[in-house]
Amino acid sequence: MEFPVRWLPALLHLLIMGAEVLCDCTVENMQIEGGTYKLTKQLQEGSRLIYSCPNGYYPDPAWTYLCQANGSWTPAPKTFPRQRCKVVECPDPNVLLYGSVSPPQQRYFVGNETMTECYSGYTMRGSLRRVCLPNGKWSGRTPICSRDTGDHCADPGIPAGASRTGNSFGIGDTVRYQCSRELFLMGSDERVCQENGQWTGIEPSCYYKHTYDTPEEVGQALGRKIRDHLKEMELIDDESEVRGQCGLHQPYETHLGNSNRNMYPWAASVIIVTKDSVTRTCSGSLVTPQFVLTAAQCFIDHQPENVGVHIDGRLHRVERMWIHPLYNVAARAAQGVSEFYDYDVALVQLTEQVVISTAVRPICIPCTQQTSDALRLNLTCAEQEEILLNQHFERLQFLTKTHRGMRPKEVWAKLHHNRAECISHVLKAGGITAMDPNVAVTENFLCTGGRIPFRDHIACPGDGGGAVFKNYESRTIQVALVSWGTKNLCSGGGLVESDDDSRDFHLNLFRVVPFLKSILGNVTQDEYEPLTFLDD
Ligand SMILES: *[C@@H]1O[C@H](CO)[C@@H](O)[C@H](O)[C@H]1NC(C)=O
Ligand SMILES: *[C@@H]1O[C@H](CO)[C@@H](O)[C@H](O)[C@H]1NC(C)=O
Ligand SMILES: *[C@@H]1O[C@H](CO)[C@@H](O)[C@H](O)[C@H]1NC(C)=O
Ligand SMILES: *[C@@H]1O[C@H](CO)[C@@H](O)[C@H](O)[C@H]1NC(C)=O
Repeated sequence: MEFPVRWLPALLHLLIMGAEVLCDCTVENMQIEGGTYKLTKQLQEGSRLIYSCPNGYYPDPAWTYLCQANGSWTPAPKTFPRQRCKVVECPDPNVLLYGSVSPPQQRYFVGNETMTECYSGYTMRGSLRRVCLPNGKWSGRTPICSRDTGDHCADPGIPAGASRTGNSFGIGDTVRYQCSRELFLMGSDERVCQENGQWTGIEPSCYYKHTYDTPEEVGQALGRKIRDHLKEMELIDDESEVRGQCGLHQPYETHLGNSNRNMYPWAASVIIVTKDSVTRTCSGSLVTPQFVLTAAQCFIDHQPENVGVHIDGRLHRVERMWIHPLYNVAARAAQGVSEFYDYDVALVQLTEQVVISTAVRPICIPCTQQTSDALRLNLTCAEQEEILLNQHFERLQFLTKTHRGMRPKEVWAKLHHNRAECISHVLKAGGITAMDPNVAVTENFLCTGGRIPFRDHIACPGDGGGAVFKNYESRTIQVALVSWGTKNLCSGGGLVESDDDSRDFHLNLFRVVPFLKSILGNVTQDEYEPLTFLDD
């Protein structure tokens, strides 16, 4: 079994050696028809070749390649199909019931327009005219032709590219959706008609691999527009207005000064000096001006004076470490799990508060009033979890340090019915002889990695303890922390992609709220300002 602390010597090695070793990657046969590419570090090991295409086109079959130490690109380039910029396609809109879409086409490409007409006796909801957009989605809303049948819920429609089973819409009736081949489903694949006349869940959409959400859509998915986004960005310069706001960050990289840091102002490194004077590093996240959240495995029997926290280039001294009381690596050794990482969470209390600025600011954490405020919704703890960890494939990120600053790793958490397959790969990890994956990977972990629906990034040495987060435009919410994985694929460090079997497990913060609350929400102490935790 591999886990972040053990990977650390490899990371230190990498940082000291740098990645300046020249390798033989070549750009021969790497051209893209109709587009261009750039290299992040010429042809050196760890360099990334990234394709770009004009608006309305996407690179196919690959978006990017990574230069390996042995001089080959990964994934292995193919000669067929040849690399080219393909026109963005939108999913098939001819799935409408009781109406027709014109013009009828086999395939619809960016810029193509459709009109919808309902059969006589049926009325239309949704958008009459739709255009295929450069992000691979149709403009407007799904058209629905229905007639008044006295059903309790309104016809929930069939989104482009999908098929539906279930055609009765009374209380308790269920409809199920599937996307056609090549497409994958975002949103709810199953919806139930409720007593209040509303369907549970959110309308599904079918995505190609080139389909993406614009930031505005992410905001709308939360039931609101990001109306105040610009105002908020102006406020970032007015510290007095935003001091108490968690997760506020600069959403895009600019060419100004501390831009990379301002995108991840909560990022922290926990430095631990061991008895034999070896320095190890874990990642962490600033959760209040005086506390950093990290993994329990970073600490063994360390004293606070042997621990420091780096935030934006400054080293902070540590008052105390709080380890989750149920954390016990040896707890399941007898059950065939040589190292058990349940409750791998710790809080590090700094001796003094950090100074909040555009580059140093806490991230939002689950079940706090501050997080509901960030989402601008009046939510319970359970509703926060429903919004943040809802999809069968939930898109999350965590950070890795590279020579060019911090970079987000993209992963899809496999939730609901995708989870069992994901955690089953733990049985192939070293140190595990248990037959049941749930013995090693409890319900408290999120599972990422593998290549479905896309190839995930995999955690590397030094990423452990860091925040697994979701960005909502200018706010960041931490949902988990990087804990351990089945394979170390990170000889080159940085943005390494998963293979079929590698999986990472991240401790779900919604499962450790009582621990977080007992310290961060403690109102009977007077050393620091407590966070406001929600009741349920
Ligand atoms: C180069 O290394 C990668 C990963 O270590 C490996 O998958 C690949 O087969 C190697 N290629 C050659 C040509 O040795
Ligand atoms: C649909 O888009 C494709 C690609 O841009 C274009 O060649 C075709 O003419 C369009 N069809 C219609 C009916 O506009
Ligand atoms: C928030 O929701 C709770 C429970 O649903 C309700 O009691 C409360 O009045 C709501 N607060 C606001 C400001 O809407
Ligand atoms: C809160 O802090 C006080 C004072 O340090 C301490 O006595 C108490 O046990 C703490 N409460 C919890 C729930 O840990």
